Amino acid sequence: MIPVVKTIDEIRNAVKTAKKQGKIIGFVPTMGFLHEGHKSLIVRAASENDYVVVSDFVNPTQFGPNEDFESYPRDIEKDRALCTEAGADIIFNPEPDEMYCDPLTTVSVDKITKTLCGASRPIHFDGVATVVSKLFNIVAPDRAYFGQKDAQQLIVIKKMVKDLNFDIEIVGCPIIREEDGLAKSSRNTYLNEAERKAALCLSRALNKGRSMIEMGEKSAKTVKKAITDEINREPLSRIDYVEISDLETLQPTDSTNGVLVAVAVYIGKTRFIDNFIIERVDE
Ligand code: PAJ
Repeated sequence: MIPVVKTIDEIRNAVKTAKKQGKIIGFVPTMGFLHEGHKSLIVRAASENDYVVVSDFVNPTQFGPNEDFESYPRDIEKDRALCTEAGADIIFNPEPDEMYCDPLTTVSVDKITKTLCGASRPIHFDGVATVVSKLFNIVAPDRAYFGQKDAQQLIVIKKMVKDLNFDIEIVGCPIIREEDGLAKSSRNTYLNEAERKAALCLSRALNKGRSMIEMGEKSAKTVKKAITDEINREPLSRIDYVEISDLETLQPTDSTNGVLVAVAVYIGKTRFIDNFIIERVDE
């Protein structure tokens, strides 16, 4: 089993030693309770780097006051087994006190954090940008791996890295799904049997939207309506947003070229997100 370290000094020393040996460092930031989605990032990192660090930290500052910080699932021993199997070299698993000591500094990315998940989770992306900056400074990796599952997060981190000149390559990785289409998520464990079935409305609706665009639909409004109607057919669902946004600005657009098609839907008390991307083609 690979080591789990709790302090910033320990992880820094481990990375320094690896770098002295000429190793290239890959980094996968996570909040733990790892599943096949996280594993795909770790496997990719292990295939492209010599030394792979996984951080396992439920970051309090990215949760709103009525969100699930306290109840977020945790299982470090299970995570350790998964990371070992996936080819990671070390896990950084700090306590909140190790990461935060009365801070006065926040990293805040403007505009692209105000739409989509940022609209209903106002402090979320400041929390994410700040903790990821801190982790980048602590781990100092050559490459860092993020899932398209959290598409807005990936876009925000790429912009932050560019704006603040972090010397780190950000690698985006595809969404890993259950066999029936539900995107893998640590929060899937919150679902009872009926809700688990109901949660399929996200991927079902998105598949419908994607086929419409692939068949040539050019109106975002039409696609958005079809996705919304499909989700609303599921009685246990409550839509937070269905949005078609420009891939760069993350502002709503009327086009279906170069777009992020994203949804956030409550199933019971739990909020789920899913999306797909249509890359821009010059017309
Ligand atoms: P967490 O939700 O644990 O996700 C860690 C990484 O795994 C993210 O980059 C996320 O996009 C990716 N991931 C989750 N489910 C996935 C799936 N089904 N397929 C592919 N990738 C998936 O995202 C966070 O943690 C936090 O915000 C963090 C970046 C660690 C900052 O605290």
